[in-house]
Amino acid sequence: MEANPSVLATVGVGDLVLLDPLSEESLLSNLRERFLHKEIYTYIGNVVISVNPYRQLPIYSAEMVEQYCNGNFYAMKPHIYAIAEDAYSSLRDRNRDQCILITGESGAGKTEASKLVMSYVAAVCSKGADVTKVKEQLLQSNPVLEAFGNAKTIRNNNSSRFGKYMDVEFDFKGEPLGGLISNCECNSLPSLHVLHAQGTYAAHGFAALQPVMCRRLPRRLKLQRDCRHHGYLGDENPRLPGMDDATNFQAVQDAMRIIGFSEAEVMQLLEVTAVVLKLGDLQLSGQFQASGMDACGIQNIQVLRDICELIGLQESILEQALCSRTVEAKQEKVVTALSVAQGYFGRDALAKNIYSRLFDWLVTRINESIQVTAGERRKVMGVLDIYGFEIFQDNSFEQFIINYCNEKLQQIFILMTLKEEQEEYFREGIKWTPVTFFDNSIICDLIESGKGGILVLLDEECLRPGTVSAATFLAKLDQAFGSHEHYESRKSQSDRHITDTSLPSTCFRVHHYAGKVTYNATGFIEKNTDRLYRGLAQAMWQAKHTLLRSLFPDGDPKKASLKMPPTAGFQFKASINTLMKNLYSKNPNYIRCIKPNENQAPGQFTDELVRSQVRYLGLLENVRVRRAGYAYRQPYQPCLERYRLLSTHTWPRWTGTARYGAWGARGPGTWSSQGELAYGHTKVFIRTPQTLFNLEERRRRRVEELATVIQKTYRGWRCRTQYQLMRKSQILISAWFRGHAQKKRYQHMKRAALLIQTYARGWKVRRALVRGGALPLLPPVLHSPFSLSPKLQKFFLGLKNNLPPLTVSDRSWPPAPYRFLTNANQELKTIFYHWKCKKYRDQLSLEKRAAMQTKLCASELFKGKKTRYGPSVPEPFQGDYVGLQKNPKYQKLQAAARGKLVLADTVRKVNQANGKVRCGGLPGVLAVPAQDADGTWCLLPQQTGTGGAKGDVLLVSDHVIEVVTRVHQVLLETTQQATTIHPRRFSTQFKKSSIAVTVVQGPKGHLEPVCKKKGKKMEVLVC
Ligand SMILES: Nc1ncnc2c1ncn2[C@@H]1O[C@H](COP(=O)(O)OP(=O)(O)OP(=O)(O)O)[C@@H](O)[C@H]1O
Ligand SMILES: [Mg+2]
Repeated sequence: MEANPSVLATVGVGDLVLLDPLSEESLLSNLRERFLHKEIYTYIGNVVISVNPYRQLPIYSAEMVEQYCNGNFYAMKPHIYAIAEDAYSSLRDRNRDQCILITGESGAGKTEASKLVMSYVAAVCSKGADVTKVKEQLLQSNPVLEAFGNAKTIRNNNSSRFGKYMDVEFDFKGEPLGGLISNCECNSLPSLHVLHAQGTYAAHGFAALQPVMCRRLPRRLKLQRDCRHHGYLGDENPRLPGMDDATNFQAVQDAMRIIGFSEAEVMQLLEVTAVVLKLGDLQLSGQFQASGMDACGIQNIQVLRDICELIGLQESILEQALCSRTVEAKQEKVVTALSVAQGYFGRDALAKNIYSRLFDWLVTRINESIQVTAGERRKVMGVLDIYGFEIFQDNSFEQFIINYCNEKLQQIFILMTLKEEQEEYFREGIKWTPVTFFDNSIICDLIESGKGGILVLLDEECLRPGTVSAATFLAKLDQAFGSHEHYESRKSQSDRHITDTSLPSTCFRVHHYAGKVTYNATGFIEKNTDRLYRGLAQAMWQAKHTLLRSLFPDGDPKKASLKMPPTAGFQFKASINTLMKNLYSKNPNYIRCIKPNENQAPGQFTDELVRSQVRYLGLLENVRVRRAGYAYRQPYQPCLERYRLLSTHTWPRWTGTARYGAWGARGPGTWSSQGELAYGHTKVFIRTPQTLFNLEERRRRRVEELATVIQKTYRGWRCRTQYQLMRKSQILISAWFRGHAQKKRYQHMKRAALLIQTYARGWKVRRALVRGGALPLLPPVLHSPFSLSPKLQKFFLGLKNNLPPLTVSDRSWPPAPYRFLTNANQELKTIFYHWKCKKYRDQLSLEKRAAMQTKLCASELFKGKKTRYGPSVPEPFQGDYVGLQKNPKYQKLQAAARGKLVLADTVRKVNQANGKVRCGGLPGVLAVPAQDADGTWCLLPQQTGTGGAKGDVLLVSDHVIEVVTRVHQVLLETTQQATTIHPRRFSTQFKKSSIAVTVVQGPKGHLEPVCKKKGKKMEVLVC
């Protein structure tokens, strides 16, 4: 057999199929050697054996996931990720529903393995936002269910007390859509969970959550702060080493939130859990009855009150339900009082029932969140993690049920890997030497046979009228199975003349596949019928607490039926059969967990313990069948479909039979050695995984080749189509372009032809006129169509060479040589003049500009209003007419005062009394103070001897235009107010009388203005 290098390159052998020599001893030492080198996984073909390391190993990192993702099962070191990858890729690529069966005894690592498988699948499928939410919800269902469904036992600190089968559903791309959890147990088997079964403490979710609940919500949940005061928790320490209750509690709450539980739902869940706890605190005491019958009553009423307050129920109803029982017979109700023992039994049954129903509600509620709504066909991967095989000192009905379930799982393994495989070889006509193995069907029949298995006998005993007890049940078993090779009891042993003191008289023993287990028959009857008194169910239904009420629909009197509910064993058998049917419909993948020691200690490998597991798990037989058999088989049709692309015979088309086609599809060099392949009647068998691996590898390469061909063809087609489209477009564009170009050319030619025509016609007309002698009558411009240009040219060139002078006052401009140029010439003249003015303005200095502005201001004030204005225009404004600036005193003063001299001139004053102009000048100064002064100005006529004169002063100046203009400018500059000038008529104030002054033109020859005063009027004659 050809070996895989990566399986060989490890401690011992990675695949037990390669073990040589093959014996129980060599198998055991191989497992031991690998375990001690921290190689906890080993294969038997595609079955993974996992030995619990009881310590964290660095083999579950993201890098490891990366390595195993898309890697080949046989090309990597044995790992649980490899089987998860194999199952997932088979589901995704081959469209086959998968199930992963994890088996092993309690504490062997099944739950951990199931979590690893789930986390691997979650890590390798895609990472979109929707998918992440689904993945999170699926993963978070674990801590919630573990919290309420796991318990600390003497075999495992975190023992699953429920069987979890989770179907994860995927779409066609292999992305998870949701899931469905099935709880493999029956409703009336609550004792699996809780309350001090021997060796089993309270479900640690229940137990471990209590301290935190007690601490955080004592008032709300009516609990004691110290949880040890609660009866059901007792003195046992439910805490797990290395676990922090508060963190755990928080993690469970977070998980519930992620799954979609509302705050109210979580609170109600805690309240119901608190009710279970408080029921354990209820104390009953015997009471006296007149009839002398036993009766009981509640001793601690406060606890009853608390419970009733929590669930919204009348105390009297619960008290009555707990202390009495109502039996209906022939439409009559008979109320009987319960003894103290019966009262306690009822109380405990109620607590168990509430907890069990609450757990089922939890599963249903999680399913509501993760379940996929109807839609496309989905692929399913089921992961089964069930309570492991258990052997305690005292084994009761719970262990019987658990071990029965494990027996069935072993049966499915045997059927599918050993029996079914060998039978298939016979069916298919393959040459085969049978391998013997232990078939546990006989034990399964012993327990479940419908014709008289232990469960059926138990049911019969439970339903039988008359007194039933453990002894009568045992007698019935002895009678039925006294000679059964897998059954033992005191009686059967003594019948066989064997004295077996290790077997108490109340017990019977079953030889399970995994070992002999002695069951105590006491309690079987009660636990199988474990019914709740109807009164208690009805009391719960009357509670106002929504969740609790919904847990007891059977308490509704309208729905009450007198029919007996099915027994626990019956329900369990039914649920196991459904599970088996589900598993048979899927492709199985096995993880077989082994417990290396009883101490839950790392690095300890107890040979005897492992040997017994190797034996009962049938690993040796598994290896033998595997070695002799074929690793892989497939019906011809799917085989042809998958591999026909490998051969030119079958690719691309095959019309022959599938069998012949599958043979032809092998392609050259597929089978390295003889016997590698066997052809059955309907299937082809491949012996070694290596061959399958090679075949898959060749298929992968061929798929790549074909993909290249498809890509090539597609790209060629795409380019051709593109090219044809472009060509079509190009032809269209060039057609349009040519059309457009031709159209333009035509229009151009048409215009040219018209022009030529015009000239030709003109020429013809002129010729006719010349001949007729009428040409001189026409304006010269029309003499020839070609005579204009030289004339224009001559005009413009002439103009350029003879431009008028640039003096602004010069407005001369040459006349237009032709009439048709008159307008253009006028336009040119205006442009030239504007240009000349601009040039002139640009070269003016600041002083000159200021002087011009003053002139302009004077023009605005006086033009057309004052006769003197005309002659004053050419006279420049001098400002200082008296030479003040040259005066050294003034210069000194100016340096100190920094004022600005505007005007200094000599004026003459008009006498107020007679209007005569006073001879001799009166010097005056107009000055503007420096900018930092307050903006006032002053006119300073030199004071005369008439000091103290009042009223206005009428002055005569030779430079009146300049004086007034400057006064106006200064006023404007300092006060932003324009002066109003009255050139002809104004009034003035002489002393206290107002004088109307009129300015009139005097006779010619007047050199000086003359003022004539008559009363209150004065006439000024100006020259
Ligand atoms: N792969 C592993 N790596 C590290 N520790 C492990 C591994 N598998 C199991 N364990 C340890 O063993 C303990 C028991 O494992 P687990 O709960 O999975 O057993 P089980 O087979 O589910 O038991 P039961 O049937 O009682 O539920 C775990 O709590 C963990 O500490
Ligand atoms: Mg478990």
